[in-house]
Amino acid sequence: MKFSRREFLKLGLAGGMALAFPFFGASACSGPGESPTGKGSTGALLRSRATLPRPFTAPLTVTKVLEPARSDASGDHYEVVQKAGRQEILPGLKTEIWGYNGTFPGPTVEARSGRSAVVRQWNELSVPVSTHLHGGKTPPGSDGYPTDLILPLGQEAQDGHSPDSPSRHFHSETHSHGFKDYEYPNAQRAATLWYHDHRMDFTGPQVWRGLAGFYIVRDEDDDALPLPKGEQDVPLMICDRSFDEDGSFLYPSLDPSLLGEPGVEDDYMEGVLGDAILVNGAPWPFMEVSNTRYRFRVLNASNARRYELALDPEPPDGSLSFVQVGSDGGLLGAPLLHRTIPISQAERFDVVVDFSRYPVGTEVTLKNRLGAGTTADVMRFRVARRERDDSTIPRQLSDMTEFDGLTESRATVERGEFRFKRISENGRTMWGINGEPFDPERMEARPELGSVEVWNLDTDAHHPIHLHLVQFKVLSRNGERPRPTDAGWKDTVDLASGEEAKVIARFDGYRGRYVFHCHNLEHEDMMMMANFEVI
Ligand code: C2O
Ligand code: CU
Ligand code: CU
Repeated sequence: MKFSRREFLKLGLAGGMALAFPFFGASACSGPGESPTGKGSTGALLRSRATLPRPFTAPLTVTKVLEPARSDASGDHYEVVQKAGRQEILPGLKTEIWGYNGTFPGPTVEARSGRSAVVRQWNELSVPVSTHLHGGKTPPGSDGYPTDLILPLGQEAQDGHSPDSPSRHFHSETHSHGFKDYEYPNAQRAATLWYHDHRMDFTGPQVWRGLAGFYIVRDEDDDALPLPKGEQDVPLMICDRSFDEDGSFLYPSLDPSLLGEPGVEDDYMEGVLGDAILVNGAPWPFMEVSNTRYRFRVLNASNARRYELALDPEPPDGSLSFVQVGSDGGLLGAPLLHRTIPISQAERFDVVVDFSRYPVGTEVTLKNRLGAGTTADVMRFRVARRERDDSTIPRQLSDMTEFDGLTESRATVERGEFRFKRISENGRTMWGINGEPFDPERMEARPELGSVEVWNLDTDAHHPIHLHLVQFKVLSRNGERPRPTDAGWKDTVDLASGEEAKVIARFDGYRGRYVFHCHNLEHEDMMMMANFEVI
């Protein structure tokens, strides 16, 4: 059979792909009505052994903002200790988490565009870590390269080598001992970023244990808009987890110490899906809101789960549920209306919800249209009180001249297809790019500093594809117009099985080595990652 992928989709043969890739059969997430080509997550459901609580009983908490240890003319200096902590996530049970300052989610960093932040990350965990600022325009030495490890505090007494996977030592590996200073110039526009662990081979389990937090860049243009502010500007980190009987996180690591063999049990190599949905670390929380507009900065911090967010009931006046004002890379040019928001791992959607459309007393559930059973609910809002609302959503949100100017004719290089596909490596099934597993020594692309390039991306399953350093624009999807939710500056594009996308970016900021990879964290750990070097 010789069809191009596009023809394949056009002919409606996409259903046949489920046969070609038998793992879709195992995808516990393919609920009723979900097409195998398309919308669902790639992964297998890991069932909790603990009794999960009734939804909408825990209050939503908004994660604390991190105070700088000191500030001076050069910027703000922060100290963060990565360590274990115990949190009551399920009522009556304690969960050991690994967190930034011992909390999950980690504290929120509030940064100013143009003002630098230096974050000293201490490692008091038992394993090496690497911390990445997702969406950040960061110099290569502070980007959290997967082998740029911070060894646990105290390990300097040994030979200076991490005890992990001795077969995977690379020349380019660098180590810090006990701590590392990450320098973030914040020379970028206001946007909702997040920071998370990026350790080679072990990102999935380390993020699952809690190593993730928000990093919000603000600027004057964003501040000046009459959008909801203060308590009406709420970051929501959505992720799925599974729990063991005693409340500990379940995760199918081959070696739960995370010091030996990397990877997960075979059944979960497509990705690990939890059956409990957490928002800001609480299971299916509720939030009391006034009958006003709220700005929600929604992040999908899940390892493998993809969501389609919807309000239930929909607004009684017939208007669409969400007004999108921002994407991964900050404000859109103008607001966009959506009935539902599909969100893949690592994507951010900055949306305004106007609760004045509901009578006071209404309970509005944030649903996941791709979920079934426990995963069909995310959280609930209770419209609890009347309040005056000074916010509005302006028709014009931000200057997108630079974005609009990124057209194909500006590109000097076109690369790809970069094919994100399953591969077989030493008899084991893994995930690769162009048939190759990740190798820190191999450069897949060498864009010139400041140049504009078009990249073609192509998949065999659901793969959310993320590029470090840059924010890009989705030019097309399967040769056609992008989805409405592909709009604006993006650093991650949500590609369903068999889809292809053309994206365009300017590679500016810094010279050096960066990665691009699938943000299904199990795929990433199983080598679906490659390097580019800005020269
Ligand atoms: Cu959010 Cu390289 O990752
Ligand atoms: Cu080493
Ligand atoms: Cu993937």
